[in-house]
Amino acid sequence: MTRRTGLFISLEGIDGSGKSTQAELLAEGLEAAGHDVLLTREPGGSPGAEEIRALVLRGDPARWSAETEILLFTAARRDHMERVIQPALDAGRIVVCDRFADSTRMYQGLSRGDLRDLVDSLHDLMIGREPDLTILIDMDPSAGLARAKGRNGVEERFEDFGLELQERMRAGYLDLAKAAPERFRVIDGARDMKAVARDVLAAATAALP
Ligand code: ADP
Ligand code: TYD
Repeated sequence: MTRRTGLFISLEGIDGSGKSTQAELLAEGLEAAGHDVLLTREPGGSPGAEEIRALVLRGDPARWSAETEILLFTAARRDHMERVIQPALDAGRIVVCDRFADSTRMYQGLSRGDLRDLVDSLHDLMIGREPDLTILIDMDPSAGLARAKGRNGVEERFEDFGLELQERMRAGYLDLAKAAPERFRVIDGARDMKAVARDVLAAATAALP
């Protein structure tokens, strides 16, 4: 008997780079090709993790220390992994996840001092795996922020961090991609949605078993 193993794909990038748009288009494209796809997101993706999402994304920017945030995002991820992602992969499905652990490496790892080691240690202890494929939607932060600001919601704790931090995170994401080329594909997000989506679908299709 052949054992079906799914494929775990994450989309990463700075705020407003088009991850959510591309995650949806990718899920549609894979489904149209006959695959069984689960589209999900972080923080969130399971009922418990969605509750944690409200805690971390709403309210005063100083509500949590960076260390507390790392614990909260990792707790949300653990629940999401246990209850949603792993069962889907075990069932042979393709999981498309809008953000995953690389977001914690960038946002909590870089925003208030260098906490990358702490993020990585907790990840190894509590999550212990990376996506099979990570699609980094790369784009200029000023254009990304302009897009993100247009949304106007209550989940704004991180979008107030400003351009300088987004620039550092863009560079940080590109460094991550360089350090793990077997997992990352970098795609230029500053183009027409459909052109970006074609490249994203091609990268995902190439990674299928
Ligand atoms: P993210 O999830 O990375 O924050 P979104 O997918 O939510 O980004 O996109 C942010 C905003 O930019 C949305 O209003 C979306 O419709 C728009 N957008 C997404 N991709 C593009 C694109 N390629 N060109 C122009 N606008 C885009
Ligand atoms: P998201 O809804 O993907 O926002 P956006 O569409 O603006 O990219 O994520 C909400 C915010 O949560 C985003 O600013 C990044 C932040 N975040 C972290 O700080 N750490 C994490 O581990 C994750 C998953 C998200």
